[in-house]
Amino acid sequence: MVHVDLSGAQKFFTAAGPDYKLAALAHETLASGTGLGADFIGWRSLPQHIKETELDRIVAAAEKIRARSTALVVIGIGGSYLGARGAIELLKPVPGKGDPRVFFVGNTLSADALWDTLDQLGDQDFDVNVISKSGTTLEPAASFRIFRELLARKYGDKADEHIFATTDAKRGALKSLANDRGWESFVVPDDVGGRFSVLSAVGLLPMAVAGIDVRLVIDSAIAELKALDLRSPENPAWQYAAARQHLYGKGYGIEILGCYEPSFRFMGEWWKQLYGESEGKDGKGIFPASVEFTADLHSMGQFIQAGPRTLMETIVRFSRSRREFPFPNDEQNADGLNYLVGKDMADINRIASDAVREAHVAGGVPNLVVEVPKRDEEGFAALVCFFEVACAISGYMSGVNPFDQPGVEAYKKNMFRMLGKPGAV
Ligand code: PA5
Repeated sequence: MVHVDLSGAQKFFTAAGPDYKLAALAHETLASGTGLGADFIGWRSLPQHIKETELDRIVAAAEKIRARSTALVVIGIGGSYLGARGAIELLKPVPGKGDPRVFFVGNTLSADALWDTLDQLGDQDFDVNVISKSGTTLEPAASFRIFRELLARKYGDKADEHIFATTDAKRGALKSLANDRGWESFVVPDDVGGRFSVLSAVGLLPMAVAGIDVRLVIDSAIAELKALDLRSPENPAWQYAAARQHLYGKGYGIEILGCYEPSFRFMGEWWKQLYGESEGKDGKGIFPASVEFTADLHSMGQFIQAGPRTLMETIVRFSRSRREFPFPNDEQNADGLNYLVGKDMADINRIASDAVREAHVAGGVPNLVVEVPKRDEEGFAALVCFFEVACAISGYMSGVNPFDQPGVEAYKKNMFRMLGKPGAV
């Protein structure tokens, strides 16, 4: 389970501190399925459900792809994309021997980005995993048409065998196409929203193709979700949710999520969608932003240290690094760095994070730490489950429906009208 350290936020709390009674109520609302959006809490049992239904088929499909292709093109956007990318960049930032390269398309309408992917793909053997719950989202649908044509040119009447569709069980244009063409299909369950779907086939198939042990991810997630059902202020999800809501009430309206591992970058993007779409409604919400440390200390550091005092900071920490890298000795010491000899790069990184924390707290930035032991399958599962549970509790604490996203429709209406889609007004 993750460990949450609130000591860097303590001095910003009032005497009453975070409201654990409200967190308890919010948790009960979630668990009893009596709250707003309760039709979309299937993610709470998703790992168990997937283990009993599609997991074997997901692993078998991934093995097939790994055996015949050097690339997988994943087509999807938002909740149908960010989790898989977050996982793969976190756990497999460099493909291992025999791991296909995973390309993500359909998350933009940029012609140049499409060409860049096509150029990198070249004449490699590849498969396509198209992911869209609705089956109607413009960005992935447009890219899918292009990649279907490419598959048809490359593989002729075998093209359909290279397409894997992850979509609604019954409805939508993608589902109909998949049925007509006989593509192997996986399900985005009805009761799971896009941003909570990473532990379904949406995330698991691309992760398995990349060489991630998805069975371990799922077994870990089952255990994590059970542990996170704890009804106590000892529950790290309560601690995080209650602390951020308490700070929000005191005027800290922006939360930056930072990590000292660059491979965490797309987990930050996943987290932003999870919290932004879940909480930003009814005129309320903490604005989620993300930073990469130490790099962003050299760009955003000034603002964080001394800009408007409306920021709180959450740091994701991995207790141990994967590999050791002792700092090298240099007899000449011309660069004056020999004071670092005897330390590992991982120690230096950790000491830097302690120093930054001390400075930010002194500068008026409440600091929360979320720590997991290692950057591995278990750590990934722990973070996903923790952030999902805490997000639902935090959303209910603030009185919103954490599971809908009515605001994302407004731009789509305008775009379809301007593009001349039949029936759009
Ligand atoms: O969280 C969400 O619901 C959105 O981000 C969707 O995942 C995103 O818009 C993609 O939708 P779809 O999977 O229907 O193509």
